[in-house]
Amino acid sequence: MRVLSVASECAPLIKTGGLADVVGALPGALARHGVQMRVLLPGYPGIAGRLAQAQRHVINLPGGRRARLITGEIDDLSLILLDAPEYFDRPGNPYVGPDGADWPDNHLRFGLFCEVAAALAVSGLAGWAPDLVHAHDWQAGLVPAYLAQQSSTGTGAVPPVLLTIHNIAFQGVFPASVLSDLNLPSALMTLDGLEYYGQLSFLKGGLAMANRLSTVSPSYAVELMEPAFGMGMEGLLSYRRADLVGILNGVDTDAWDPTRDPALAATYSANVPGGKARNRAAVAGHFGLDLADEAPLFIVISRLTAQKGLDLLLEALPTLVDGGAGLAVLGSGDPGFEEGFRQAALAQPDRIGTVIAYDEPLSHLMQAGGDAIIIPSRFEPCGLTQLYGLRYGTLPVVARTGGLADTVIDANAAAMAAGVATGFVHEPGSAQALSRALQRAISAYADPKTWTTMRANAMRQPVGWAQSAAAYAALYAEMTTQ
Ligand code: ADP
Ligand code: GLC
Repeated sequence: MRVLSVASECAPLIKTGGLADVVGALPGALARHGVQMRVLLPGYPGIAGRLAQAQRHVINLPGGRRARLITGEIDDLSLILLDAPEYFDRPGNPYVGPDGADWPDNHLRFGLFCEVAAALAVSGLAGWAPDLVHAHDWQAGLVPAYLAQQSSTGTGAVPPVLLTIHNIAFQGVFPASVLSDLNLPSALMTLDGLEYYGQLSFLKGGLAMANRLSTVSPSYAVELMEPAFGMGMEGLLSYRRADLVGILNGVDTDAWDPTRDPALAATYSANVPGGKARNRAAVAGHFGLDLADEAPLFIVISRLTAQKGLDLLLEALPTLVDGGAGLAVLGSGDPGFEEGFRQAALAQPDRIGTVIAYDEPLSHLMQAGGDAIIIPSRFEPCGLTQLYGLRYGTLPVVARTGGLADTVIDANAAAMAAGVATGFVHEPGSAQALSRALQRAISAYADPKTWTTMRANAMRQPVGWAQSAAAYAALYAEMTTQ
């Protein structure tokens, strides 16, 4: 089976969040199921130069236009880059310019990206044609619309499209007037097309027109059909409920392996967890913290946005400090949150440390050195940092929502009696509920036997791709035999 994965991010090449990790991990995970996956990615600066066996191609688009592509390999990824420097040769974040605002031509940038994906899907490239297209998020949302266009003019077979929702908050909404710049017919501006409350939405178009839909956890799949989580798409998703499935993300267990992670101060394993203490000392040193051995070290590694509920943590900080605990925060995002955590560190420098940055190696060291990781999200389609936490024995303190609810077993009385708890789960959106969960974690840490058992449980959780890759492979098979 040949699959074209279409996404705006792919680790290790370009990443702003978990989407990149997932897109980068899927090809390897699915290869074990006989799926040959190639990833179509915009040609951001510096990527083409990293590819082995790079080759240039030209592909025809409707109306006599053409697009340039570069194919090549990196690690075990097979990439197809859209070589359109006028749109993608811009350094930094792929979506926003240096002024922090979305690039004003994002509809043209990702419109062309979708159009090229559709052309590739129909005509193939140098003899390689996909049996299925796996599109991710709004940036790939118009692929089915362009496919519908090109199928009416082209000669090749039209492969089915699976659209995966990684985060419904990002919908690619533009004024209806941009349609004429996108080489799409006005007949598509309807309720069952791209029209979204009088505007044009890339994501809405994809949700309406893709053959199947998926999202990244079973709980989020259910939540998305409710007004509180669907962000305006709940009606459409309820209508398409038979076509929507939740498949949990996994993590790359090679890149995230405490027994051989090069970013750690010391490696360790579930059976021999001793090295964790050296990592904790390294994290405390990096953040300038002075912590008693009996005090737990909490960590946060996150985009600092409203989604992540970190304002609730700012409110709950007295619980941590009064409980003797320490906190190390790594993140960047909204200036208000950045300032809040900077101020908290200034007020309690021995106990709270803040690094405003995006730092991949430091994130690994923190997962190894933390005792617990705090993720109080208001909504969380899947979440990866709790999975890294489980794998590194850093117990997650999480809100009961989306993928967080699906992956962490709360230390309630029943779970403790059964010896299966892996973390602390609280009601979302409440600083009081978060405070109580933090208190429970601090108490559990004070009982080394409890903590050791929970940590061993956490590290034994299967957080890799095995199960989910099988689920995607089965879905692809079903979609291509219909
Ligand atoms: P989201 O995609 O919503 O941001 P996820 O939990 O799915 O949330 O993925 C976030 C990814 O980004 C994880 O791999 C996490 O380790 C990483 N990450 C987030 N913030 C930082 C940061 N400041 N430095 C390094 N890695 C970060
Ligand atoms: C999104 C979500 C996150 C999810 C990631 C990968 O960024 O916010 O919860 O883990 O996509 O699917």
